[in-house]
Amino acid sequence: MAQRLSQTPEVWTPDESVTTRWVQQSYEALREKAAANPAAFWESEAKEYLWFRPWERTVDDSNAPFYQWFVGGKTNIVANALDRHLTNAHRNKLAYIWEGEDGSVRTMSFHALDREVCQFAHVLRSMGVRKGDRVTLYLPRVLELPIAMLACAKIGAVHSVVYGGFSVEALNERIQDSESRVLVTADGGFLRGKVIPLKEIADRALERAGTVEHVIVVRRTGQKVAMETGRDYFYDELMTLPLGRAGGGRCETEQMDSEDPLFLLYTSGTTGRPKGIVHTHGGYLVGVAATLKYAFEPRPEDRWWCAADPGWITGHSYVVYGPLINGMTSVIYEGAPTHPYPDRWWRIVERYGVNVLYAAPTAIRGLMRFGEAWANRHDLSSLRLLGSVGEPINPEAWRWYHRVIGGGRCPIIDTWWQTETGMFMVSPVPSMPLKPGSATRPLPGIRAEVLADDGTPVRLGEEGKLVITTPWPAMLRGVWRDPDRYVQQYWSTFPGKYFTGDSARIDEDGYLWIIGRVDDVIKVSGYRLGTAEIESALVSHPAVGEAAAIAMPHEIKGHAIWAYVLLRAGHQPSPALAEELGAHVAREMGPIAKPERIEFVEALPKTRSGKIMRRVLKARAQGLPEGDVSTLEQ
Ligand code: WTA
Repeated sequence: MAQRLSQTPEVWTPDESVTTRWVQQSYEALREKAAANPAAFWESEAKEYLWFRPWERTVDDSNAPFYQWFVGGKTNIVANALDRHLTNAHRNKLAYIWEGEDGSVRTMSFHALDREVCQFAHVLRSMGVRKGDRVTLYLPRVLELPIAMLACAKIGAVHSVVYGGFSVEALNERIQDSESRVLVTADGGFLRGKVIPLKEIADRALERAGTVEHVIVVRRTGQKVAMETGRDYFYDELMTLPLGRAGGGRCETEQMDSEDPLFLLYTSGTTGRPKGIVHTHGGYLVGVAATLKYAFEPRPEDRWWCAADPGWITGHSYVVYGPLINGMTSVIYEGAPTHPYPDRWWRIVERYGVNVLYAAPTAIRGLMRFGEAWANRHDLSSLRLLGSVGEPINPEAWRWYHRVIGGGRCPIIDTWWQTETGMFMVSPVPSMPLKPGSATRPLPGIRAEVLADDGTPVRLGEEGKLVITTPWPAMLRGVWRDPDRYVQQYWSTFPGKYFTGDSARIDEDGYLWIIGRVDDVIKVSGYRLGTAEIESALVSHPAVGEAAAIAMPHEIKGHAIWAYVLLRAGHQPSPALAEELGAHVAREMGPIAKPERIEFVEALPKTRSGKIMRRVLKARAQGLPEGDVSTLEQ
């Protein structure tokens, strides 16, 4: 029986045909049971996967907030994502269907993917990469990215994927902080018909970073690149190294402790230095696999398309690990949604018969602006479910996505989560009544609250801070080599509770409405950037004395960056200089960080203690009242 909801603002209830396993009632019962004992719920989920040795304790909170999961257990996420499928019905099923921006297609079965992964794992081992070593992956959206991630995990190395849209300084910082020994990159990548010179950017980053011993270069564009003898090798040439007959031509999967690190993923926070978020083999594997299963109810014949970049947490969890563990066939598309025309995505849905499309609101809004005729030209009837992630989906985009793409029949699974949570936290399941713009309720085993600054729950409908009150298996295990920052950032605002950095409200049906970030994190087209990082990129230009960056609402990107710059003596404001500063940020951090607008100012609003009051800048930019300015230095 469907749950009764208040009908305001607007409720959409899916047809019974969308759901298979969990009719609403049994889901409610499961949620209740899990709420009573989250650890028991996660334990029963964990039993569905392969462990070399069972765990002794499901969750250890003796050193909270440094929680541990499945303590004493041994597994490897690759044993679950690949090895296990080699002897079951998934062996010859496609794991990936990849389409290049140029229209080329490459498919790979679970068996073939395993071969590639074994081979590359062998290459990494032969380069001296051992358990615990870090490897940075800076690649375009090609199959070698999941292959390299899985190869690292297989031998117990820790991957650190740097999004291919980032540039020199962003890459350099991430290599330095992780002390990676090996960098895997490509000659270049294709985007919007243009070539991004990844190897060239990597070389410039390596001039600034010292730990990398070897660079492995995947050939994608075929352009000529500089290769340093003894340091740089082409991927395809290394992949011919014989695996040998030992182990049946396979490379052995390392048995890892549940709590051994699987990857680092750098994300922006409130300081200029990105944080290396740490995830582990055991808890992460259970968390991503289970949440994908509940939120999207995969069917064996499904074609799943998570359109996010694998270099983002969404790609880690739901292009690579979650779908593979669940034995699903994923579509990966290399390029831009509008290349060569704004129907590229709809062509892909039609061509491969995609059943589930999981994408970011910014992409939906970007396609919406071209009108519905582009989508209407294609047969999208294979779609059963749609998904949304990365920022709140505005009701207008929700309705367009639902009506034009989903034909009015597909539920929109709006999943709220974070790099830090590793897995979906708040999300509907397909049978649930939906309200456009709400991610609905926490998934089973997750407890969330919305609190006022004094730590008490806010009243219904009031805005407050979103916290998670019990540990969950895929939770971050810390900030790489910075335990204080972990405690300070996440566990000190409300002691004993995980603070998400988001504000939200809960309505009378218990549905959560995420409002946005309350810290200095900006979401531009779904990508997470810190104001402090953009500011430090600006200040690294010789003409800039001080800078402040703020988020301004933007119709397609959600938010855009506006920057205020105070020049050093001897430099004059000019449109050409503004242009140059924009290009400088793009070169240092990446094109996504380039401010939409740069204004030269004589002074920045600061508190008497010298902190920039971005709130005041923002109010001024929007022509709104400046609010409480009693701390403003006059
Ligand atoms: C925002 C992305 C509203 C939120 C997976 C969060 C969302 C931040 C949603 C994490 C959603 C993500 N509705 N807001 N469905 N999903 N967010 O680390 O502000 O890139 O804190 O992880 O994105 O961004 P991150």
